[in-house]
Amino acid sequence: MSFPHLSEVLKILDGALKSNATMSTNYAGLLADKLEQDGERETAIRIRERLARAPTAIAHAQDASRNGVGLPVDIESRLDTVDVSTPVKGAVSLHLPGGTANRMAEFLQSVRHYDLLRASKAAMPLRVLLYGLPGTGKTQSARWIASELGLPLLTVRCDTLISSLLGQTSKNLRRVFDYVEQRPCVLFLDEFDALASARGNERDVGELQRVVIALLQNIDAISENTILLAASNHERLLDPAVWRRFPFQIPLPLPDNELRRVMWTAMLGVFAPDNLDWDALIVRSEGASGALIEQIGMDTKRHAILSGKPKVDDGELFRRLALSLALAQGHTLAAIRDEIRWLRQWDAKIFSLRELARLYDVSTRQITHLIQEQHGNTTEPTRRGKG
Ligand SMILES: Nc1ncnc2c1ncn2[C@@H]1O[C@H](COP(=O)(O)OP(=O)(O)OP(=O)(O)O)[C@@H](O)[C@H]1O
Ligand SMILES: [Mg+2]
Repeated sequence: MSFPHLSEVLKILDGALKSNATMSTNYAGLLADKLEQDGERETAIRIRERLARAPTAIAHAQDASRNGVGLPVDIESRLDTVDVSTPVKGAVSLHLPGGTANRMAEFLQSVRHYDLLRASKAAMPLRVLLYGLPGTGKTQSARWIASELGLPLLTVRCDTLISSLLGQTSKNLRRVFDYVEQRPCVLFLDEFDALASARGNERDVGELQRVVIALLQNIDAISENTILLAASNHERLLDPAVWRRFPFQIPLPLPDNELRRVMWTAMLGVFAPDNLDWDALIVRSEGASGALIEQIGMDTKRHAILSGKPKVDDGELFRRLALSLALAQGHTLAAIRDEIRWLRQWDAKIFSLRELARLYDVSTRQITHLIQEQHGNTTEPTRRGKG
């Protein structure tokens, strides 16, 4: 290719044509950075000198570079509609099954070689819809994509956006899209279903439909090389008109055995107990999301550190896993005896009488008694005093 940074030049041109100081300054700055990285130091300096001579442009750019200033703010609630972060490459861990990782890589390739693809009319709009159950890594994927591309991530929480006065939502959306068109970044519409499921929703149909129409119009109006990510838990609620606008659709499944092994290994790290039955941990954590594995890993590590132990206790690890899964399935185990019964029927081999007695610091007799007791006529076990 004769001119590798054509897209920025076109952006600058757009900006200049609209006499938009913010836009032209931001992209000219990016171009200077890229040229310098490519060894074109002289050219970069000349661009920067030129920018320094344009006082209004600099003022705008300084506004924009300070977080919070110049961001679209919801007038009614005074909440920032957009959160800006700069995830660092290598600092965001993402564990994906092979097929999903390939789709992710394909998207990154399409971003990096956009100009080349476009020249051959093979480019698709750079828009990704991430969908899957809660805690499967949608928000984490957005951070990871921004970190890989070395671009700031602008996150819009659509539920916040819509919970502000509905009448304001369309205006807020317009401001967000205007904002991202003016700087190199990744726009991330998180909790996207809050907006996109609006069509067909019975509550306040007219108002919500206007929001969806505004959303679709905004998406249609942005350049095809503006990077747009959206995340949804409820993909079935999304309108087909919304799906069509996202050429890259990436499902995030619950982790399979292989991935759970990777996740547990990463989460426990050096705190993994020496005697841990890894296969049991992996099999018994079926159905757990990445978020749940991370949370259990953190909780057990904290427990170990606070009790002055160098490793996680494996019984404690399984106990927390079983209780978290119970909660995820809607069982609220309020009393200790309910916990103990649940653990025992969850896996009698892992939770032997002796292990339960150790974990709850009571005698095995009390455990046997508790498990055999009929419902109703029960008393809570009291932990025996230490020492
Ligand atoms: N596939 C994964 N790889 C790495 N970390 C993960 C993965 N899935 C979940 N996690 C961890 O779990 C936490 C929650 O994940 P995340 O916020 O991305 O979930 P989500 O899919 O956006 O959930 P929600 O639908 O509730 O917003 C993150 O801090 C992340 O570290
Ligand atoms: Mg999320």
